[in-house]
Amino acid sequence: MEIDQQQKEDFGVLLKQGAEARVFESSFVGRRSIVKERFSKKYRHPLLDTKLTLKRLNAEARCMTKARRLGVPTPVLYAVDPLLHTLTFEFIDGPSVKEILLDFGLNGVVEEQLNDIAMQIGNAIGKLHDGGLVHGDLTTSNMIIKEGTNQLVLIDFGLSFTSTLPEDKAVDLYVLERALLSMHSSCGNVMDKILAAYRKSSKQWSSTMNKLAQVRQRGRKRTMVG
Ligand SMILES: Nc1ncnc2c1ncn2[C@@H]1O[C@H](COP(=O)(O)OP(=O)(O)O)[C@@H](O)[C@H]1O
Ligand SMILES: [Mg+2]
Repeated sequence: MEIDQQQKEDFGVLLKQGAEARVFESSFVGRRSIVKERFSKKYRHPLLDTKLTLKRLNAEARCMTKARRLGVPTPVLYAVDPLLHTLTFEFIDGPSVKEILLDFGLNGVVEEQLNDIAMQIGNAIGKLHDGGLVHGDLTTSNMIIKEGTNQLVLIDFGLSFTSTLPEDKAVDLYVLERALLSMHSSCGNVMDKILAAYRKSSKQWSSTMNKLAQVRQRGRKRTMVG
């Protein structure tokens, strides 16, 4: 127990305590880094739990690496520790898209910057989807605009999975659309701009957009038939 506590403190400064992971700012061989520690859900059987935690940990690492290979900027993965259940990656310095959109119109965020961000988001999602990767948690907190370069970096592949189904891709877009509508309605129709870029970036845009229209009609849940 005491060793456990010591290890947790050694990870660094706690940035976020989530339902399935804690995120720390840390240092990895002298480089500013992020440590994401997955922890057990107490109501699951311990052995099953460890297995599931490890599965998710590896899936997150693999999906993030795959995104990178598909040409979508993600943090560099520095290390995977299957014993401590941690992933260590590059710290991306810069505001989240959430922060930028909430500041829209206040701190001189101009239409031009908004358009550029929307274009990068649509472009990135198109690349992921054509590569058979669904992000699974496309919210504006999971997108960072790298300081200095203004480059979009996608983070948090904790719910990502591989799929080529238009349905899964449509739900991915739908999650983002809902997030934008609920939190950033004052920014105008950012989603339209994102979708315009998505159409240019994804060769399979038309089947995905058809599905998106259906998903909008019924909400994200699949209808249960029979
Ligand atoms: N590579 C990174 N660089 C900078 N900040 C990060 C990085 N990864 C995560 N964060 C910060 O930690 C938060 C939580 O990390 P995230 O991977 O999204 O975990 P969760 O699954 O709990 O949402 C992010 O919203 C972001 O603020
Ligand atoms: Mg997140």
